[in-house]
Amino acid sequence: MPSVTIVDHPLVQHKLTLMRRKETPTAEFRRLVREVAMLLGYEITRDLPLTTVSVETPLMETEARVLAGKKLCIVTILRAGNGLLDGMLDLLPSARVGHVGIYRDPTSLQAVEYYYKVPQDIAERPVIVVDPMLATGNSAAAAIARLKRDGANDLRFACLLAAPEGVGHFHEAHPDVPIFTAAVDHGLDDHGYILPGLGDAGDRIYGTR
Ligand code: URA
Repeated sequence: MPSVTIVDHPLVQHKLTLMRRKETPTAEFRRLVREVAMLLGYEITRDLPLTTVSVETPLMETEARVLAGKKLCIVTILRAGNGLLDGMLDLLPSARVGHVGIYRDPTSLQAVEYYYKVPQDIAERPVIVVDPMLATGNSAAAAIARLKRDGANDLRFACLLAAPEGVGHFHEAHPDVPIFTAAVDHGLDDHGYILPGLGDAGDRIYGTR
């Protein structure tokens, strides 16, 4: 069954509101994205499997738990995904990283891929795909389809904001991939921007407008 988890932790909601404000300066916006990424990452990784190892504390030997299996891979959808990537890597410093370059054709709003590089063994790793805005869902669905063609089969998608249209489209294409978001907003405007949203996430992270 498709699932959407809205991470409604008070810290996430407070930081999201600060990000929505148009007066929030670039440096603060970037810092907030990074912080929210860590908090989303905490929820997304909640069901990772654990195994037991022996360790010696300063007092005695004991059995203790560590993450099982191969290291996670975080896949960022360029360029706005990189804002979330930084926070995820703060939380998961040993994670591998993949990059998918996809832009939205401004007329058709369809996804066009221009770059793709992921670890060769992606099929054996849990994968978190990050992109701040799940608007039409076209880019996210295209990125996941590409990763599935490389054998990825343990996938999660993380964003800051989603539109109901994006969630619908994404889940039609990938009902097996859970979405984690800080909020689901009202809808899209004629240019595919999320309303009320926070504007163009890439421009706000990198100060390009
Ligand atoms: N991409 C953005 O950066 N913002 C939106 O609202 C929609 C897509």
